[in-house]
Amino acid sequence: MENLKNTKKAYVRTYGCKQNFADSEKITGLLSSMGYTLTFHTGDADLIIFNTCAVRENAEQRVFGNVGELKKLKEEKPDLIIILCGCMTQQLHTAEKFKAKFPFIDAIAGTNIISSIPEIIKKAAVTVKKGANIHIGEAAGEFIEEIKPLREGKFSANVPIMNGCDNFCTYCVVPLVRGREVSRTAHNIVREVKALINEGRRDILLLGQNVNSFGKNTDEKIDFTGLLQKLDELDGEFVISYMTSHPKDCKRELIDFIAQSRKISRHLHLPVQSGSNRILSLMNRGYTRESYMELALYAKEKIPDISLTTDILVGFPGENYEDFRQTLDLTEKIGFDSAYTFIYSKREGTAAANMDDPVTAEEKSEWFKELLEVQNKIGERSYERFIGKTLRVFCTGQGRSDPALLTGKSKQGIIVDFLGGTSEMQGKFADVKITKSLPWALIGNL
Ligand code: 5AD
Ligand code: SF4
Repeated sequence: MENLKNTKKAYVRTYGCKQNFADSEKITGLLSSMGYTLTFHTGDADLIIFNTCAVRENAEQRVFGNVGELKKLKEEKPDLIIILCGCMTQQLHTAEKFKAKFPFIDAIAGTNIISSIPEIIKKAAVTVKKGANIHIGEAAGEFIEEIKPLREGKFSANVPIMNGCDNFCTYCVVPLVRGREVSRTAHNIVREVKALINEGRRDILLLGQNVNSFGKNTDEKIDFTGLLQKLDELDGEFVISYMTSHPKDCKRELIDFIAQSRKISRHLHLPVQSGSNRILSLMNRGYTRESYMELALYAKEKIPDISLTTDILVGFPGENYEDFRQTLDLTEKIGFDSAYTFIYSKREGTAAANMDDPVTAEEKSEWFKELLEVQNKIGERSYERFIGKTLRVFCTGQGRSDPALLTGKSKQGIIVDFLGGTSEMQGKFADVKITKSLPWALIGNL
């Protein structure tokens, strides 16, 4: 690594989910220990890394477009090293496609790039004018505790608690590209969170594809509730949020603990995907419409100030309008604060890719619009329930809409803009009385 010490500039671009962003923070941490400084312009860079996402086809198309744009840069600067990594390039068929389409790429790695970065850069520096080396490697989550991530922002932090996924939902490529589920030790997580709090970070997000199965397949006798208990006991004021929860593994005991905890977020992101039992079963989700509704309503009852959000997938192979109507019905009955909605995208290598998919793209798009209309109507008014209440808000800076306001995040994960604060409040907590609600934020007074 020593001879790579230099003052060269690296540009890292991340696509997709928070887990990928957390990986990139480790990548930039490692690059910085190698002597690279970071740049936000591809034009200045000596090294460009794209950390890609494969969850849907449109994410992939964006990456293909952006990589294509690098061709000119490489022609102007032949020593520029271009590396692709992440979920897309973990799949050999996609890696080969990149190699064939863009011969100017220097290295194509997979999801386990972090520990091999120095070696990949070293090799790429030798073969820089010869085109891509493909290093794929097993898709297995690795936790390199020694690498300190270079975190964006001052007040928040992403903390991966596990990697990979064992669920094999039939539409999802994640288990194929991120490998089997591996949990970090509770000891290392608690130590990291403590250090982050000591640095002044107060908004900690625990990350995993299915946080509710944390601790399975390990020697430690601790589950996700146990981990949250340990974190809740740490000194100081801070908020621990977490994603993503899986309805099949999220137990009432966890909800009960959160209800009486002091420092655990009041935001539950609980992806439902579909409201039809027939489709849930084809998706291999492991729960029913009824059990989902019971759990969601239990959470709302036990934690009255909770914010409940979800993911919904429209147009899964074989879904018909009656199935879709069940999704609309569930959406209306639960009343989510917001829903991330997606049209099904066929992913090579998944079980759903081999299922009959007779519904046309146009029809799916009509259903999608119908769902958006229903959810927008619910979302428009759902924050009204906070008007008149006082929320504890972690203040992060000046309001975007109006610099006279300060902005922050409530324990529900909702943006709160408020009057009456001063800039010294950044990085601190405040009590804010809510006076107005918007579909995406709350407004109030200190
Ligand atoms: N097509 C569309 N959406 C998908 N998701 C996962 N796989 C696919 C796919 N093949 C959505 C799910 C998941 C979210 C992160 O992305 O709703 O919860
Ligand atoms: Fe994909 Fe299902 Fe795992 Fe989530 S739980 S990452 S949707 S396979």
